Amino acid sequence: MTSVLSAKKIKKTFFSPSKVVVLKGVDLSINACETIAIIGPSGSGKSTLLHILGTLESPTSGSLKFFEKTYSKKDTSTLRSEKIGFVFQSSHLFEEETLLNNLLIKARIARRPIHKQSEAYVEACDLLKKVGLSHRADFLVKYLSGGEKQRASIARALMNNPALILADEPTGNLDSASAKNIQDLLIGCCKELKKSLVVVTHDQSFADQCDRKLSLIDGIIVI
Ligand SMILES: Nc1ncnc2c1ncn2[C@@H]1O[C@H](COP(=O)(O)OP(=O)(O)O)[C@@H](O)[C@H]1O
Ligand SMILES: [Mg+2]
Repeated sequence: MTSVLSAKKIKKTFFSPSKVVVLKGVDLSINACETIAIIGPSGSGKSTLLHILGTLESPTSGSLKFFEKTYSKKDTSTLRSEKIGFVFQSSHLFEEETLLNNLLIKARIARRPIHKQSEAYVEACDLLKKVGLSHRADFLVKYLSGGEKQRASIARALMNNPALILADEPTGNLDSASAKNIQDLLIGCCKELKKSLVVVTHDQSFADQCDRKLSLIDGIIVI
């Protein structure tokens, strides 16, 4: 089984504005094509853990290996743009840009050509089709509904063909019908495109759809 990410003894303490011990030694191994749900009470450190797994934040101690390799700090931005896709609770898209441009910006960050005949352009159009938003490609993001924005976030996360998708409460802001829709789309895309997924969710049915369900309680993972 190919290891996509292996996190060992991850600890995280915030020191400002006051000392908060959040993670007390998290071990987590993520295999290729595996979907994992992380559940846990509010404030238990789920977002912090996801940010550390995505190299958006550094752990206080512990080690992370991607594809059985340790990445130095200077290589993590390349790792992020090429191998990891993020979906957040709110979309974090550029509101004043078109939907298509939002996907192309991610390709641009990975230094890929983005002209109309480029591979990245075709990929962006294909992904918009996959999430059912081809007809919105030229819309400014600010004109999209909440559900459409989350569909778009999934398409953007899949841009550049990453191995791992990290999703932090991706359905947290949606009504139950839209939430179910996004849940099915995210799991469906990850299975079909053979991505690993770590999703933080409060939704039991979402967690039940994943291959593994883990709880983060008092700074450690409880199975
Ligand atoms: N940048 C930060 N500085 C200080 N404390 C933080 C920071 N980020 C999160 N925390 C604290 O860490 C704890 C865990 O936060 P978080 O990971 O957001 O929890 P969850 O996502 O499970 O709700 C909370 O007590 C929060 O206040
Ligand atoms: Mg959170």
